[in-house]
Amino acid sequence: MGAEVVIEGLTKSFGRQTIWRDVTLTLPPGEVSVMLGPSGTGKSVFLKSMIGLLKPDRGKCMINGVDIVRCSEHKLYETRKLFGVLFQDGALFGSMNLYDNVAFPLREHTKKSETEIRRIVLEKLEMTGLAGAEKKLPGEISGGMRKRAGLARALVLDPEIILVDEPDSGLDPVRTTYISQLFLDVNAQIDATFLIVTHNINLARTVPDNLGMLFRKELVMFGPREVLLTSEEPVVKQFLNGRMDGPIGMSEEKDQAQMAAERAMFEAGHHAGGVEEVTGIPPQMQPAPGLPTRQGAIRRKDRVMQILHTLPPAAQEGIIESLSPEEQARYGVHPRRGAYEDPPTINTTPVPPRHSGELPSEEVARIPGAHRRTQGPGGA
Ligand SMILES: Nc1ncnc2c1ncn2[C@@H]1O[C@H](COP(=O)(O)OP(=O)(O)O)[C@@H](O)[C@H]1O
Ligand SMILES: [Mg+2]
Repeated sequence: MGAEVVIEGLTKSFGRQTIWRDVTLTLPPGEVSVMLGPSGTGKSVFLKSMIGLLKPDRGKCMINGVDIVRCSEHKLYETRKLFGVLFQDGALFGSMNLYDNVAFPLREHTKKSETEIRRIVLEKLEMTGLAGAEKKLPGEISGGMRKRAGLARALVLDPEIILVDEPDSGLDPVRTTYISQLFLDVNAQIDATFLIVTHNINLARTVPDNLGMLFRKELVMFGPREVLLTSEEPVVKQFLNGRMDGPIGMSEEKDQAQMAAERAMFEAGHHAGGVEEVTGIPPQMQPAPGLPTRQGAIRRKDRVMQILHTLPPAAQEGIIESLSPEEQARYGVHPRRGAYEDPPTINTTPVPPRHSGELPSEEVARIPGAHRRTQGPGGA
């Protein structure tokens, strides 16, 4: 199982410039979390602080009982081995072929024989869809392949935590989806804890178990995906819809006067860009068929059900709707508004097996926007 990461009151400044302050969050073991934030909000600084490449001014970052912020050099060196990091550009050595790039951490940090190294390198290249490409130089392959090679290299020391910086940078939307699929596939196979930082809305909506957002030097929110995806918090809502109307402006944030002037403009019908406001929670991407079920997702279900009563109503509803009727029965919960005109009654008695041809209700509930159609004029 991946390691849990507990971050408490983490604050980082460079000289007099505070990057973010008082960041408190827990990355649950083996779950996939995404941290959103506009450019320049300190996402990369956050990842670097987590592995001790940068020193925060205050706060803790605990991994297996070690505080990365304050531990000895020796402990830091040891704890860093638990991390696999995929930097924005893949950070491959341009003069080395993929095989040597991926073998590098093994040669550097272990005393393994070349035979053993070969076995591991080929396994990770296979896992990331790069079998047969070992002789290629980074300059000879596509951006997507470079990212996958960076991931293969991040995997060779069997990391418990994988940090990914903007996996979509330089990739088209289709390649971004492929790399997202790969993260979930890898997560299913090794159960590592993932933190992906990005400003990609689509990835944030469909990939993680948990979502967070950095803005105005603070962690605005962090929690189960359903919480942010149904949030009415203006910053979160604006960001997840990629729109111009809201507190986030061209350079970073807007002042009150600008907000008011723009509100009038958008109310008068000026297109705010982005996607049409999406209600409901899109289905989460799943590991490819044939791969094991994500253990992190199984643990998350229990974890989230335990804190369910503490979450906002819309998030509760989304979580309940994402459960199968059997799970709803097991947890003793039932959806308040179903996807049907006449919602099926779900009680705690065992659910009869569904017959073929019938559309399973949990799949209906997962169709984005399938519920809440009755809200608002015209629904969109
Ligand atoms: N080593 C550094 N020294 C001084 N300032 C830095 C350093 N690294 C990053 N910054 C500043 O921290 C802020 C956040 O940067 P970054 O983490 O790269 O943002 P993001 O990854 O969210 O786009 C920026 O203003 C950047 O200039
Ligand atoms: Mg960055």
